Amino acid sequence: MTDTIFSSQPAPAALARNALKAAAQLWFVVATAGLWMFTFYIIAYFIVPIIQNGLGSLANTHLPKGFVPGDGVGNLAVGVHVFLAALVIGGGPLQLIPQIRDRFPRIHRWYGRIYMVTAVLISLAGLYMIWMRGGAFGNTVQHIGTSVDGVLIILFGAMAWRTAMARNFTAHRRWALRLFMAVNAVWFLRLGYRFWAFVNDGSLGNMEVLFNILSYAQYLVPLAILELYFIAQTRGGVGGRFAMAGGLVAVTMVMAIGIYSATTGMWLPRLS
Ligand code: HEM
Repeated sequence: MTDTIFSSQPAPAALARNALKAAAQLWFVVATAGLWMFTFYIIAYFIVPIIQNGLGSLANTHLPKGFVPGDGVGNLAVGVHVFLAALVIGGGPLQLIPQIRDRFPRIHRWYGRIYMVTAVLISLAGLYMIWMRGGAFGNTVQHIGTSVDGVLIILFGAMAWRTAMARNFTAHRRWALRLFMAVNAVWFLRLGYRFWAFVNDGSLGNMEVLFNILSYAQYLVPLAILELYFIAQTRGGVGGRFAMAGGLVAVTMVMAIGIYSATTGMWLPRLS
């Protein structure tokens, strides 16, 4: 099978396809390691204390309004938000591994449904925390940026679901990947400012401007790169595929620095 594919294509074309595939796999492996690190932090910093001591333990976190005495609904929204966050951030990459998808299609289908519903619930809780409860980090520009992500998650989730039900798997794959990027935007945001701190000797500079930009870039940049990847895959040509492969390797290096800096400069120190 592999021989047929390789022998039926001119050498540069096959090489370009393989380079693009290898670059995407490298991106995925590094992203999965970083997402699991974030999941470990969410479990250890939020979930274990909530299980042990209830929602009151949110008072001991860095969240500006993690726990407010008497605000049962608001405290619950934060608790639900972080519990479900671990489920989508940690489990999401498993949905994209072809071997798991092909060998355990029922698990893929069931977890896919859970993932989509969970992502929508997190977004609704997040929108409630920002616009009704108030007191979240950031200014209105940033709140609108994050809220647009919440709306995109709901939209992409609906499209991924619809295309799966219609058994249009080419479209389903694309919408599911867009959903994956939008769901992980909160993680990209953290990598973004930790990367910035890393290359600026630990300083974030003008934090307001940085966060205004990152509140939108957290999903616009990954979604734009994803669209370029789709184009390179379907009609990129040899040059386009090599360029995309190189771009993905560069993006992966930036991401790896962000993961390293977020882990050592933020997540692990909060756990110690
Ligand atoms: C599915 C995607 C999302 C995930 C996985 C997620 C995950 C998280 C996590 C892990 C935290 C804890 C922060 C930390 O310790 O670093 C958090 C906090 C928070 N999230 Fe989300 N989130 C998502 C989407 C959203 C959306 C769409 C909104 C708003 C529309 C939102 C609003 C908030 C707010 C207000 C906080 C509290 C921190 C603060 O006061 O700013 N989240 N989220």
